[in-house]
Amino acid sequence: MLKQIQQEARQTALAAGALLRQNFSGPHQVQLKGRHDPVTESDFQSQQLIIQNLSRGFPNHRFLAEETGTPENQNSSDGCWIIDPLDGTVNFAHNFPMFCVSIAFQWQGEVVYGVVYDPMREELFEALQGRGAWLNQQPVKISEVNDLDQALVATGFPYTVIDHLDATMQRFANMVARTQGVRRPGSAALDLCYVAAGRFDGFWEEALKPWDTAAGVLIVQEAGGHISTFDGSSFNLYSSNVVASNVLLHDQILVALRI
Ligand code: IPD
Ligand code: CA
Ligand code: CA
Repeated sequence: MLKQIQQEARQTALAAGALLRQNFSGPHQVQLKGRHDPVTESDFQSQQLIIQNLSRGFPNHRFLAEETGTPENQNSSDGCWIIDPLDGTVNFAHNFPMFCVSIAFQWQGEVVYGVVYDPMREELFEALQGRGAWLNQQPVKISEVNDLDQALVATGFPYTVIDHLDATMQRFANMVARTQGVRRPGSAALDLCYVAAGRFDGFWEEALKPWDTAAGVLIVQEAGGHISTFDGSSFNLYSSNVVASNVLLHDQILVALRI
């Protein structure tokens, strides 16, 4: 079954990405879910395409998708798809070409497959539990930087950042002071894939949702990276924060994030 999961999810991510690429130059119809939290017509179109495609192949599976709010069907299937139809909506809405489609497949509560597709660069990251991680079907692995002073790291800010701005900015300042550079690209799923591919040496963020992290976390782990929460405990999809690293830098990042 996993082969079929991979094939259908990959084709679906490519199709949803093609739709986003086609819609990219706009104009966009933007609505607000919160003061700084936009959603475009393309988020909904991409989600509809993904759920339609996957439910054709897997009619009994459950879906947890960002723009649906609650799972589409609450049956008792062991299989669940976790979907961010457009990760990087603020970028997309402003014609900033950094966004992706993220699809993960969970079996009996464990993510066993993940795919993240960046349609502007035509980069498709994927991982199968226990079998590795790939970028356009070539194996990827994490970086070998072992000194935080030499590291390039990334972060993001949740839409609710204003509620805990001081703590978030203190952590950001600590990392700016401790590293060669900090980036805030605006797509958590791609940030995680960039750790997997060794482009970033680490990543941290608070208040992400399961659809932001489900695929990317597996891709980091299968590329040899480490995932935890800010206090070093084990991460799950509902954890309130996440750190991803190349293993070598993990403890240094946790110390730098302490405030
Ligand atoms: C957002 C992006 C962003 C991160 C936010 C997410 P969305 O997802 O991943 O990088 O900083 O916390 O909510 O809304 O574009 O799917
Ligand atoms: Ca997202
Ligand atoms: Ca999204």
